[in-house]
Parts: sequence; structure tokens; C-alpha cells
Amino acid sequence: MQIKIAPSILSADFSNMGEAVKKIEKCGANLIHCDVMDGSFVEPITFGAQMIKNIRPLTNLPLDAHLMVEHPKTQIKFFADAGADIITVHYEACKKISDTYLEETLRLIKSYGVKCGAVVNPDVPVENIFPVFPLCDMVVIMSVYPGYAGQKFIPEVLDKVKKAREYAVRIGRPEMDIEVDGGVTEENAKTIKQAGANILVAGSAVFKAQDAAATIANLKR
Ligand code: DX5
Ligand code: ZN
Repeated sequence: MQIKIAPSILSADFSNMGEAVKKIEKCGANLIHCDVMDGSFVEPITFGAQMIKNIRPLTNLPLDAHLMVEHPKTQIKFFADAGADIITVHYEACKKISDTYLEETLRLIKSYGVKCGAVVNPDVPVENIFPVFPLCDMVVIMSVYPGYAGQKFIPEVLDKVKKAREYAVRIGRPEMDIEVDGGVTEENAKTIKQAGANILVAGSAVFKAQDAAATIANLKR
């Protein structure tokens, strides 16, 4: 499978976001990962749909909106209208509301013609989202606890990545997108890919690099 790199703009300079987005596109990024935090599901507040709307005309790359928010259903309309290409929501935020909220949210995302995905935190078994795999265009395995860039990769999640790929194969979706988010580096990328991930989010690794193009190429390789 083709390996795709999704730099997270959380690590960009927010006062210069347009330039950052254009630069990572030139450097070989495949998607732009947009970390949306609400100050409640996670402590920090980052940005909302307006950021997606403003960067949409600046790049041809798909915008991957990772919603770390409570009550994600209330936000879908705004992110879809703003031009997100894929919207992912957390199992944990949905589960707090009801057992059916995750599925309802994924269906709502799809109703806008936008791709959808479910995200699990490091301490949540990936089996918990198996029931929604058939609905998902992508599943996201968090390899750090959400909230901050620059944290250390939690290697225990590799087993979940393996299980996710095996399950995708079992349900006849061998090419399903499996994204790993958090603490990805040039050093650990290989084991993450071997476990079965095909999309790697990289915030600090790309934005702190001297040569972002070389880092993206190394992460892919
Ligand atoms: C964590 C975010 C990640 C993070 C990635 O809450 O969802 O996307 O910004 O940043 P690095 O690659 O620095 O861990
Ligand atoms: Zn993220």
C-alpha cells in the first residue's frame, strides 16, 4: 500500500498558517492533518472550522480534520461546509453520550459527502470500534494521549494497529486507511508501517525538521 504522510498543522506557526500549508504541500505531504481541540475533551483549544475554510483554497491536498471535541455531531455541518475532506471523531467522546452516537455521527459525516473515521485513544481496545469499521473510510489509532504535540510514541499501540489491519482484511477492506497519530518519528515510522498503518501523522517531526522534504521522504520510505 502507498504510505501517506499527514503533517499536523498543530506544530506550525499559527501566525503564518497559509505559508506553512503551502510549504508542506511542496515538501511532499499527502494530507493536511488539522487538530481541532475544544478545551473540554482535551485541555487546549486550537481552532475550529474557520481555519479549514481559510486554508482550503491554499492547497490541493485533502484536509483531514481530527475532532478532539465533545458532542462532535454539533460540529459536522461546519467542518463539511468549510471543505474538510475527511472528518474523524473520537470513540470516547461519542460513547459518553450514547452507544449509538458514534455510528450516528459517522453517518452524518457521510451524508455531507465527506469521508469519515473513528479514533481510539491509546487505552481503548480497537475492538470497540470494530462494529463501525464497515462505515469508516479511515480508522485512527492514537499513539499518544490527545492534547499536545511533541509527546513520546506509546509502542503498545502497535498491536492495535496490527489488529485493525487484520480486521480490515477480514471484512473485505484490505486497503482501508489506517492512520497512526502521535509521536511518529523517522526512527519509529518503519515499525508503524510494518504493523499495518498506511497514513502517518507527523507534527513535530515535520515542522521541527531542518529539511521538511527530506523528513517526509524518509517517513514514507
Ligand atoms: C495530538 C494530536 C496529534 C499531534 C501530533 O493530540 O492529535 O495530531 O499533534 O503531533 P506529534 O507528531 O508532534 O506527536
Ligand atoms: Zn491529530
